[in-house]
Amino acid sequence: MDQSTFEDRKTISAPMHASLRHDSAHKHVSGTADYIDDMPEPDGTLHAALGMGDRAHAEILSLDLSSVRAHPGVVLVLTARDMPGENDISPSHRHDEPVLAEARVEFHGQAIFCVIAETRDVARRAARLAKIEYRDLPHWTDITDTLKDGGTLVTEPLTLKRGDAEGALEKASHRVKGRMRVGGQDHFYLEGHIALAIPGEDDEITVWSSTQHPSEVQHMVAHVLGVPSNAVTVQVRRMGGGFGGKETQGNQFAALAAVAAKRLNRAVKFRLDRDEDMTATGKRHDFLIDYEVGFDGEGRIEAVKANYAARCGYSSDLSGPVTDRALFHADNAYFYPHVLLTSQPLKTHTVSNTAFRGFGGPQGLVGGERMIEEIAYRLGKDPLEIRKANFYGMPGSERVLTPYHQTVEDNIIHRIVDELETSCDYQARRRAVLAFNETSRVVRKGIALTPVKFGISFTATWYNQAGALVHVYQDGSIHLNHGGTEMGQGLFTKVAQVLADAFQVDVSRVRITATTTAKVPNTSATAASSGSDLNGMAAYDAARQIKQRLIAFAAEKWSVAPDEVAFVPHHVRVGKALIPFSDFIRQAYMARVQLSAAGFYKTPKIHWDRAKGMGTPFYYFAYGASVSEVSVDTLTGEYHVDRVDILHDVGRSLNPAIDKGQVEGAFVQGMGWLTAEELWWDDKGRLRTHAPSTYKIPLASDRPKIFNVKLAEWAEAAEPTIGRSKAVGEPPFMLAVSVLEALSMAVASTADYRLCPKLDAPATPERVLMSIERLKTQKEE
Ligand code: MTE
Ligand code: HPA
Ligand code: MOS
Repeated sequence: MDQSTFEDRKTISAPMHASLRHDSAHKHVSGTADYIDDMPEPDGTLHAALGMGDRAHAEILSLDLSSVRAHPGVVLVLTARDMPGENDISPSHRHDEPVLAEARVEFHGQAIFCVIAETRDVARRAARLAKIEYRDLPHWTDITDTLKDGGTLVTEPLTLKRGDAEGALEKASHRVKGRMRVGGQDHFYLEGHIALAIPGEDDEITVWSSTQHPSEVQHMVAHVLGVPSNAVTVQVRRMGGGFGGKETQGNQFAALAAVAAKRLNRAVKFRLDRDEDMTATGKRHDFLIDYEVGFDGEGRIEAVKANYAARCGYSSDLSGPVTDRALFHADNAYFYPHVLLTSQPLKTHTVSNTAFRGFGGPQGLVGGERMIEEIAYRLGKDPLEIRKANFYGMPGSERVLTPYHQTVEDNIIHRIVDELETSCDYQARRRAVLAFNETSRVVRKGIALTPVKFGISFTATWYNQAGALVHVYQDGSIHLNHGGTEMGQGLFTKVAQVLADAFQVDVSRVRITATTTAKVPNTSATAASSGSDLNGMAAYDAARQIKQRLIAFAAEKWSVAPDEVAFVPHHVRVGKALIPFSDFIRQAYMARVQLSAAGFYKTPKIHWDRAKGMGTPFYYFAYGASVSEVSVDTLTGEYHVDRVDILHDVGRSLNPAIDKGQVEGAFVQGMGWLTAEELWWDDKGRLRTHAPSTYKIPLASDRPKIFNVKLAEWAEAAEPTIGRSKAVGEPPFMLAVSVLEALSMAVASTADYRLCPKLDAPATPERVLMSIERLKTQKEE
């Protein structure tokens, strides 16, 4: 780089709020971004495969692994007894998740043993040679199966209560009761789960893991090996997508690779293939929602009572916080004067469900939106009118209290919705859709505007902390490390911008480095959309400390007041002198100034009392709204998404280009969840949709034909977040609810909009058709 021209420029290349491409974008598309499977393998690396059970629920009577062991190329076969420490990788306090099953299996596909072989192919082939005798036990695959038997829970349920819901329902002039099914979702990250364990001396081990939560992998590996955490280092440069699926689910593969690596003193790589990944790892929870809503003649809600039952799978995993977050979003953007919400985290003999973008929030929210639809169709009004009548009030109003007793202080939903309604010409287009449906017999259209309000912070309050490690080297180049992980969301780019901004240098001076437990300890999962809020602030704090030392140094050396020292583009101004950044840093080094700092941040203000169901679990809310227009063929149920308009709030965006990408990606992923992606287990409890041949994610061709995405440029976080930005990762996922409701309107047109179609999710063409048929018979009745 030509230092002189570079130093002369008056601005830096990418401060906070600049649209900068993802730092690895060109590497992603040209195949030069290194994922774990691309790393050169250490000499003698072995490969692992799971030996999976093929019963939903059974006692293991005998396990004969002799043929597996005898297969040429097999080096080691591990069973539960081979765990040197504890055979447990449960992320919850319940300790209900073995690395390998012991006396019984609790879902079809549960790992019973693990094969280590010279090649992956050999490991996989050998894994099929086990002879296992079982005694089958009764199993529950579905929510309704377990409810029939009384409904065993995997973890403690939650109740949120305000006022007297029962009493107010009795008194309400209108009352609707219903049930909604909301499906699950496979993460379908492009890179599946993978771990590479490299043994070190004594009890030490390094594990490269595709995980959103390196610290937890570290703790789990330590726990399973029976060694202290300081013997284990976990690293990850990037994931090829995580979407919540790598918050806890990587533990098993990292632990098994580590146990084998230590036993054999050879590197062990565990890379699942797609079928194995889909069968053996958890998904989004599907829900059965029972609701009852009381309202007046204008559609104003008086009371809500709802129960959210979730298929959690065989163990608790994150089902507690996931079902909690469902309840936290059952209100979406609406004030419920009297409310009673309960969760029912149900045990089933299926893979243990886990985090997935929105973390239960989407399922909670879609239930709330169903109630809005019920009211609208009952009163013969546009659902948008009902929405507006029920929005939380502005500060000072009486209608600002959530079911968890947090006050909504930063409400901007009215402005978001008004602007979108106008900019996309909602009213005229709705009239046009209604007119079209009057005359069109086969094809029917629907249009819907739905809002999103999403709470930002981990509800596990202690998770809301982060650390960063920043070094400035003698040549003025900067090394950035923080506890967050990169999964494609652009976190590393955003945090690099924060540092570039703080030091007023080009972002190219900031080297982004792999996440490692050795540099920043005790980190939280990169999840709850909080990555840039937390790590951005921690990096900012580290920069602040280094700058403070540099200012003190300059003030003393050049005899100026500290406020006469300033970081300006590519330079430090000291009094009237302008010193190039690199020269300044070299002088600071010569004067023995510490040029490295560990930064830290914890979110202020939040607290949560789960037992009471009261508190302020969220630092702030992110808002958004979308309008979707669809066309449905009422003879086949097939449909197209014709047009989507989005207005979304990310506060003062740290990087509008990346944030817009997040909004688009989240919307399409949400659309997949609500329309196309269907998980199906057969009566033996086998997941039959375990490959792209049977499980359909949205294709490029499913993208809305017209897709207008805008960030609310005027928005700014009310709280002092990093650059007044807001989290973006998850909230826009729920914008896709407008697709479901537009489909619902098209269906409703077949019965003059007088019956609520009660369209369950995913609204596949089959389900759309069934709902049209159902309305036909209902209409005749
Ligand atoms: N974007 C991409 N490209 N890949 C991902 O895996 N995960 C989502 C979201 N956006 C994901 C993504 C989920 S579930 C979360 S919680 C956030 O990113 C996490 O990152 P952040 O906190 O840095 O936004
Ligand atoms: N969101 C995402 N992941 C989490 C949370 C949450 O609220 N709590 C624990 N893990
Ligand atoms: Mo995201 S579901 O919080 O990883």
